[in-house]
Amino acid sequence: MSRKILITGGAGCLGSNLIERYLPQGDEIYVIDNFATGKQEVVPDVSGLTVTEGSIADAELVNEVFSKFQPTHVIHSAAAYKDPENWQEDATTNILGTINVAKAAIENNVKRLINFQTALCYGRPTEVPIPVDHPRNPFTSYGISKNAGEEYLLNSDLSVVSLRLANICGPRLAIGPIPTFYKRLKAGQNCFCSDSERDFLDMSDFFSLMDLVLDENAATGVFNVSTGKGNSIKDVYDTVAEYLELDAPEVPIVPVGDDDVPAVVLDASQTEKVFGWKAKVDFKQTIYRQLEWYDKYRINDVYSHLKEPEDK
Ligand SMILES: NC(=O)c1ccc[n+]([C@@H]2O[C@H](COP(=O)([O-])OP(=O)(O)OC[C@H]3O[C@@H](n4cnc5c(N)ncnc54)[C@H](O)[C@@H]3O)[C@@H](O)[C@H]2O)c1
Repeated sequence: MSRKILITGGAGCLGSNLIERYLPQGDEIYVIDNFATGKQEVVPDVSGLTVTEGSIADAELVNEVFSKFQPTHVIHSAAAYKDPENWQEDATTNILGTINVAKAAIENNVKRLINFQTALCYGRPTEVPIPVDHPRNPFTSYGISKNAGEEYLLNSDLSVVSLRLANICGPRLAIGPIPTFYKRLKAGQNCFCSDSERDFLDMSDFFSLMDLVLDENAATGVFNVSTGKGNSIKDVYDTVAEYLELDAPEVPIVPVGDDDVPAVVLDASQTEKVFGWKAKVDFKQTIYRQLEWYDKYRINDVYSHLKEPEDK
């Protein structure tokens, strides 16, 4: 039987990739998105896909969408984060919006809700790779509000899987070091690397886990999603330079800012045990696939949440 999947934030990076995965498989998909960071062109007018422009913070609209579509599954991907000073917007979308989605999902007997969580929920980890039961101590507006939203979901009567995600790489990724270095090195511009370490996961590995967690008989709870291996931002820089076959200039390594975390690498061993899942694509292949995508489809606007160092 085909599923009816409501994707909040479906016009965003992960949401739109999931539409491209599940629509051809015969699932019916409904998207609610306010296009704060998502793009209209990734949710085209095609059979099986319905889009409502609006905010999940609007409880009336959320209830209307649920009663009209009657989803069997919800993928809760909408999140606000683009202005770290706009605490109201982060709380409105990430807490109130999540509550609206949770209440409507309960009311409409949704079988399963998949939530996406940021590794920033752990704050500054005392242990790396970060185990899934590491205490949560978020210190950014995004992290604090996403943490509260997740708590509501986990304490509800819903069948919830909350996935705490590494940096997922794939089509349309326009934030972070990979697109930044690609664009700047190609244009002959200077770069800098923050002295930090991250984990990068290929979209195909994310998809294979999504297939498993959407099964309504699968385990529920919180799970880290990662290769479990960290790489420095300098490793990313070197890999992009190698791909572009450039003799890349010496690059300054700058200390992480107050709003950043030096090492974020998630320990996914619990996820591997419960779902029999393991990331298959290694770091170099993940970065190369991303760069091949940029070669093919171009990348225009690139975002970073890091400020440029002053003495650069
Ligand atoms: N991409 C990653 O690697 C990653 C890592 C960790 C966590 N996440 C989480 O995964 C989810 C998706 O991330 P993404 O990378 O696709 O980001 P994204 O910005 O591309 O997608 C978020 C979408 O939510 C929409 N949105 C924002 N506020 C909304 C509101 N009030 N109502 C309706 N829609 C709203 C945006 O317009 C956008 O389309 C987020 O919850 C994020 O916290 C992603």
